[in-house]
Amino acid sequence: MTDPKDSLQKIKDKALADYARHISPMKVRTLTQAGVNLIEDKREGTSVWDITGKKYIDCMTGAGIMNVGRRNPDIINALKQALDRLDIGVFLFMSKQKADLARKISEITPGNLSCTVFGVGGGEAVDTAIKLARGYSMKPEIIYTDKAYHGHTGFALSAIGRDSFREPFEPLMPRFKKVPYNDAKAIEGAITDDTAAVILETIQGEGGINVPSDDYLPKVRRICDEHDVLLILDEIQTGMGRTGKMFACEHWGVTPDIMTIAKSLGGGIYPISATVYREELQDFFIPHPFVHLSTFGGADLGCVVALATIEYIQKNNLLENATKMGDRFRNGFNRILASFPDLLLEVRQKGLMMGLQYSNGSIGPRMTKKFAERGVLAVYTGNDPSVCRLMPSLVITPEEVDFVLNALDDSMKELSEEGGIGKND
Ligand SMILES: Cc1ncc(COP(=O)(O)O)c(C=O)c1O
Repeated sequence: MTDPKDSLQKIKDKALADYARHISPMKVRTLTQAGVNLIEDKREGTSVWDITGKKYIDCMTGAGIMNVGRRNPDIINALKQALDRLDIGVFLFMSKQKADLARKISEITPGNLSCTVFGVGGGEAVDTAIKLARGYSMKPEIIYTDKAYHGHTGFALSAIGRDSFREPFEPLMPRFKKVPYNDAKAIEGAITDDTAAVILETIQGEGGINVPSDDYLPKVRRICDEHDVLLILDEIQTGMGRTGKMFACEHWGVTPDIMTIAKSLGGGIYPISATVYREELQDFFIPHPFVHLSTFGGADLGCVVALATIEYIQKNNLLENATKMGDRFRNGFNRILASFPDLLLEVRQKGLMMGLQYSNGSIGPRMTKKFAERGVLAVYTGNDPSVCRLMPSLVITPEEVDFVLNALDDSMKELSEEGGIGKND
């Protein structure tokens, strides 16, 4: 008799071979080396299972797609019921689902953000934001920040602050200017009469979970107002409750002119994104109602899912849980920081958006593997391998927080015993 584990391993090997042959051999090699070559199978709540049956607490969640947990039953039920009557819908026509979601988004976003353009993904939402800023202001210049990440579509890619993503595709969109993050003076210095907008992630995600100093966003807001420049905040990772507020900019009492939302808006079930803006900017679309179209943007099924997701976050007090569980993590981090000062330099955090700053870039991949061996998915960030991003679902329990902290503690112990930690690279 064959061991069922052997046959599951065979299925896994075949999937890896097919993936390598038909999708990306280097992705398979890199993920295998980092110890995270799982073939995602069962998914539930805070966890995911490899096809061989190994369970992981998912602290990566596709950088914040799964705020309501994986396969949340309430969201699945909403989608199942919708499938009895609806489909994607036709983008040129109107629907109650689109109208309901746009109204709901205007209620949950800060200040006077009352209008929405729907899209499918985050990059598309950023592209729309930049198009709107240029179209409304009739000015070309966009200011973005070093280490920024806004997606890989045309305008969004032009605002990414990492050369290796940009260089193969140059020339990119003209008139994009890079400044350091968390430096309001640099923004003021870069503004000219041609500047349409400043685009920022409220907290930089891929750049290494960089939380701005408390005066940064209020200062940037003031500078934008003084110079009549639009402020675009990208809340694609930070939004939908991740940091303990529905949107991270609320921590600093700052409302942008345009905000992008994606990832967890789709409840981990259906892709949908939104570019939300002040009513005054609607002036741009009045003469051009069809100037920006997206066939699948704001699909009716996606709108139902997004409405169910917002309702779930509100009804189940996930903002409060994000704050409480974030504090529980913080207490554990403080202990671990004191035990391994040579390996772990600091932890940057707002709610359940957390970044472990290791002492150098070689630690990120090694720790990813050690976490995975202990049943935790925690991967270093795209722009900085010396930072591990922890973004578990907001439904995480105290026991699961402790499980992740124990995995961190044990992994750090093992790493310090192994040695071989190079100097900063
Ligand atoms: C802050 C931010 N903006 C934009 C994007 C792009 O979103 P998408 O991959 O859905 O295009 C991401 C994706 O990680 C992101 O983190």
